[in-house]
Amino acid sequence: MTTSEYWQLGWAFARSLATYELGGRPRPFSATFAVTNRCNLRCRYCNTPFLDSSQLSLADIEVVFRKLKTLGVVRLGLAGGEPLVRDDIGDIAALGKAQGFWLSLNTNLNLYRRHESLFEHIGMVFTSLDGRFEHHREARGDKSLDGTLEAIRSLRARRIPVVAICVVDVHNIDDAEFLLEQAAQLDVRMHFQPRCTDTDIVRGAYGDDLDNERLRAFWRRLRARRRVDTHIASTALYLEHLARWSDFRQSAVADPGQRCAAGVGFLYVDPQGNTFPCPYTKGKVPPINLVREEWSRAACRTMPCTDCSVGPMVEFNTLFRRPWRAAIDAAGSYATFDR
Ligand SMILES: C[S@@+](CC[C@H](N)C(=O)[O-])C[C@H]1O[C@@H](n2cnc3c(N)ncnc32)[C@H](O)[C@@H]1O
Ligand code: SF4
Repeated sequence: MTTSEYWQLGWAFARSLATYELGGRPRPFSATFAVTNRCNLRCRYCNTPFLDSSQLSLADIEVVFRKLKTLGVVRLGLAGGEPLVRDDIGDIAALGKAQGFWLSLNTNLNLYRRHESLFEHIGMVFTSLDGRFEHHREARGDKSLDGTLEAIRSLRARRIPVVAICVVDVHNIDDAEFLLEQAAQLDVRMHFQPRCTDTDIVRGAYGDDLDNERLRAFWRRLRARRRVDTHIASTALYLEHLARWSDFRQSAVADPGQRCAAGVGFLYVDPQGNTFPCPYTKGKVPPINLVREEWSRAACRTMPCTDCSVGPMVEFNTLFRRPWRAAIDAAGSYATFDR
């Protein structure tokens, strides 16, 4: 990220924070756009490949990007499904870049070789590493690592920052050490997130073989490890939040003592252009279709929850709840990559 991109992101976040605190028209600084639900894999905790396979045309995506830009979005995450199954993903990234977004991309990297040139537009790649390789394949399928490690090495040789996400479950709860060794070898960072449940884009839930106390102990250990291990991308506030989460079989709760910044500070756009405060609320609140309609404060009046353990949303919410500490924390995790 260049110095001017930092300033743009900081300014956009400051405006988001002001509307979160003071009210008024939402000014999200960040949005995630799932470019497709289609995927080459069938990971056991993910439901996106079973959802509507239709997707916006490039012309409609341009409309959505213009509206996101007008709302104040500076950071745009391209996600899925698997974005690299779209032949025109390079054109989508180029459109995003032309609008001046700072782009990240979530991808399993299996199809990296098909789309190598697209990564010149990408500021940060999020991929998936779910533990010891046999455990990764157990959760994500036999072919799920094909090309992934080679792609990570190629991205790092190109000085593109890579963060690998691990969905923590019973099969890999003892694999953090292994993953952090891999992260050191591959020169990437690890983000750990709980298995999310009870929303359209995921499937399944923790079984009875993994209790809440064992999960909380995992997050406590990771918090302690982060003090000495720079390969953990997950922020300290995020890890502390998860170390206190009461029931991981419930990903979100309506807690009157908490406020959530979804919809005001960040947004989620699905492959049909349906826009929600965050991915967890898809299927729980009426969508605004950003191709035809406008996002407004009214769209987040019926939030089903105010607090959650949903990986990326916890990170975003800590920025709004404890802005100074969270911003320093996040800068240490995500902005210190050697490019
Ligand atoms: C939906 S995927 C899209 C990007 C790409 N296909 C991938 O797998 O990396 C984004 C991230 O969400 C994670 N994920 C999927 N289902 C999940 C769940 N139920 N709980 C938590 N994370 C989940 C995936 O492992 C992946 O790291
Ligand atoms: S987690 Fe990613 S790779 Fe796995 S099925 Fe979902 S979208 Fe596909």
